[in-house]
Amino acid sequence: MNNIFDSHAHYTDKAFNEDREIMLGSLTESGVCGIINCGADIESSVSSIELANKYDYIYAACGIHPEEADKTPENYIDILRDLAKNEKCVAIGEIGLDYYWRQDTKDLQKDLFEKQILLAKELDLPIIVHDREAHGDTMEILKEHCPKGVLHCFSGSAETAKEVLKLGMYIGLGGALTFKNARKAVEVAEMLPLDRLLLETDCPYMAPVPMRGKRNNSSYISFVAQKVAEIKGVDPQTVLDVTMENTRKLFNIK
Ligand code: NI
Repeated sequence: MNNIFDSHAHYTDKAFNEDREIMLGSLTESGVCGIINCGADIESSVSSIELANKYDYIYAACGIHPEEADKTPENYIDILRDLAKNEKCVAIGEIGLDYYWRQDTKDLQKDLFEKQILLAKELDLPIIVHDREAHGDTMEILKEHCPKGVLHCFSGSAETAKEVLKLGMYIGLGGALTFKNARKAVEVAEMLPLDRLLLETDCPYMAPVPMRGKRNNSSYISFVAQKVAEIKGVDPQTVLDVTMENTRKLFNIK
């Protein structure tokens, strides 16, 4: 298989410290044609840009993850704006709300989410949204601002997915779709038109079956494509071809 475009990865994570260069040097031989490496705080946003500048096929997203909301410098928007001016920065992300890990910073998370959406709109960049156990507030904020972007590792219902589509946004699916208990994600994949789907790893996490529990990498997206292909009744290469085009379109990658 080829045309694997990973719309959400974290190769700057310490899980890749031992063999990052070997891994990133070999992925293109496994059919990987593009990767968007996401920041989660200032430090990983800077390292995402550095990584993107080192490899032609890697692009960066810069942003503050909701779990980091209370550990962020006051001038984070200025810092992100400067970083985002780099030509390999294609998105603001990952940003959003996480009420699973952090119930204690809800208001702060909402504030950071909205300010980063405004920055993305100012720069005419799409956003990459993290929403965990916060579907109501996430959708309310998205409906208010109508940004371009993707809801990554989508964990909402098919009903919520319909609202996402109405906003013109994309839905990102990854390893979780292949898990045994993936009923909701399968329902989302069933209703979702292929032209609104992006594939992703969220590596090093979320490796798909049969690699579940191992360190994830972009070549394993082929297993996710196989699962989508089964659900949609098309062949896996078509899924990869279409989702690659979707990713290029959303992030304006030629
Ligand atoms: Ni992520």
